Amino acid sequence: MRADRPEGPDRRIHFGGDYYPEQWPEEVWAEDVQLMKEAGVTLVTAGVFAWARVEPRPGEWDFGWFDRVMDNLAQAGLRVCLATMTASPPPWLSRMHPEILPETEDGRRKWPGGRQHYCPSSPVYRQYATRLVEQVATRYAQHPALEVWHVGNEYGCHIRQCFCDVSAADFRRWLAERYGTVDVLNEAWSTAFWSQRYDSFEEVLPPRLAPTFANPSQQLDYLRFSDDALRQCYLAELAVLRRLTPDTRVTTNLMAHHKPVDAFEWARHQDVMSLDFYQDPYDPDEHLRAAFNFDLMRSALGGQPWMLLEQAPSAVNWRPRNSPKPPGAMRLWSWQAVAQGADAIMYFQWRQSLGGAEKFHSAMLPHGGTDTRAFREVSELGREFASVPEIAGTRSRAETALLTDWNSWWALELDSHPSTALDQALINRAHHRPLFDAGVACDILPPSSELAGYKLVVVPNLYLLRADDARRLARYVEDGGQLLVSFFSGIVDERDRVHPGGYPAPLRQLLGLRVEEFWPLDEGVRVPVEGVASAGPELEPGTEGDLWSEAVELEGAEAVAVFGSGELVGRPAVTRHQYGSGTAWYVGTRLGHTAMRGLLDHVRQAAGVDPVLPGLPSGVQATVREDDEHSFLFLLNHGDDSAVVALPEPMSDRLSPGSGAVTSVSLPPRGVAVMER
Ligand code: GAL
Repeated sequence: MRADRPEGPDRRIHFGGDYYPEQWPEEVWAEDVQLMKEAGVTLVTAGVFAWARVEPRPGEWDFGWFDRVMDNLAQAGLRVCLATMTASPPPWLSRMHPEILPETEDGRRKWPGGRQHYCPSSPVYRQYATRLVEQVATRYAQHPALEVWHVGNEYGCHIRQCFCDVSAADFRRWLAERYGTVDVLNEAWSTAFWSQRYDSFEEVLPPRLAPTFANPSQQLDYLRFSDDALRQCYLAELAVLRRLTPDTRVTTNLMAHHKPVDAFEWARHQDVMSLDFYQDPYDPDEHLRAAFNFDLMRSALGGQPWMLLEQAPSAVNWRPRNSPKPPGAMRLWSWQAVAQGADAIMYFQWRQSLGGAEKFHSAMLPHGGTDTRAFREVSELGREFASVPEIAGTRSRAETALLTDWNSWWALELDSHPSTALDQALINRAHHRPLFDAGVACDILPPSSELAGYKLVVVPNLYLLRADDARRLARYVEDGGQLLVSFFSGIVDERDRVHPGGYPAPLRQLLGLRVEEFWPLDEGVRVPVEGVASAGPELEPGTEGDLWSEAVELEGAEAVAVFGSGELVGRPAVTRHQYGSGTAWYVGTRLGHTAMRGLLDHVRQAAGVDPVLPGLPSGVQATVREDDEHSFLFLLNHGDDSAVVALPEPMSDRLSPGSGAVTSVSLPPRGVAVMER
């Protein structure tokens, strides 16, 4: 396998985008390559939607045109992130085999005419797809342009789950493997309830549209199964690539914190993580959503540099209203990805389409040609990345970890709960943001991770918690760790059955408390939260909780804050428990950002976790990437105002060569500095 930090001229931040030459006459291709060079492109993704062109009829191959594309790119010294071409089956396949078409939970078929119209469990789809991969991999294994394989495209983007009969049969096979006997399944799914007992696996169906709540454990298993079915498609292609090109790295572009696809599970089968991320320029907090996703990408493969495989140069076409990125935003957000560990910055797409559903999606080379803001901004950024190749391969180190788990996410957001207003993605980001704002590096990990190296562990909400993961958390605190856990954690086991013994049974001892009743708050209702312990964090007057509250009884923990009115007046809202040589904190409501920031600042100071730079101006992000020879400090101003950042020692800005060593940096709004000692 090629190392993730190439040396010499190969050490660089790759820059480029999706390239669809099949949409253009060949006369355009030479200009493409020439303008790519002008824009600083080093890597292009090619072939993603080429299936219908390279296999126009079953088993008839037409790769000649694609050979010329690959050769043109190679001659220009460009590298290719080569797709396996299986993302969207050609019309002939679903005509021959309509059974590959996916079905919704109410039995409606999804027809061809868009893309990704295949049932992930379909053996027919997989057979035709792997046959194609065999062709592609054999043909281009030795091609000088081949850099990395790009398998499929955004698994689970359009088809998250399929409910057809093929999927049903595959689900029964999956269940038989997981549970062995139908009795074990009955127990796991609590089928004694509502006369749901199964007499054989043959009776089991996907959770199709039902008169009322479908069995939650069945729903949870179907989410697991659906993720696995998608992954089996990926793994089938991966097996072909491993056999034919064992030395070439493999990735698939994930959508990161994306509910249908468990990024931690997928990471185990990739050589490099890659992400597609599309900010909404209307939303002033998109850099925070990006920050969470970027941290997740970096952490999922142990801190190894990752690829931002797709972003929009400017506007997308698929939200109801699509704003362009204002001047400087694309540069800022691209640098944010690098600051958080990316070694490749890529776009969808190179040349803007004239026809099809994405003709109004921005491109590096827009309809207006090179004399456009988009092309100028892209090309300037390409030059900038080329000027700091030493960033590639450097890494960040975090002393804080935030734990999240797809199984818990799936289970949390099922129906028939105390509240259906709990949104895992929002809860996670509400816990990540105070760390981000403070300039604290944070890894995002599954609960099964080794935690010993972290000084602080944050658990936003882990509704589903395995007993052994709970023991791991207890051991971590016992050995001196600082842990902060938020409400409705440790409630059910992996079968979505309540842990017996009072909520949250597996964490009760560790947290030193018991939750007697959940008391979710109605929309718009806020409850005052008042600090009580002198050693606790200072809560500003006017601090409130919303969304959730609960009747906590202390069993060794002390109340740090209590509810100031309402049914739970005087009962603990935030607690602290000394456990072994560490401390476990518990938050029983949703605090606003200022209070969460105050609380997490307090806990992290107790843990001895320092920010990258002290006293960061509001809106400024600071991260460090380093190796044995280099240490880069990235400063990015996401705020609306100019900011001045004081440096601990003289450093020079690699993006303003010749400016000499300075001890402070002025950043205009959307300003970026890459400082080196
Ligand atoms: C991604 C997809 C690309 C393109 C892009 C447009 O989801 O992978 O093919 O459609 O969105 O934003």
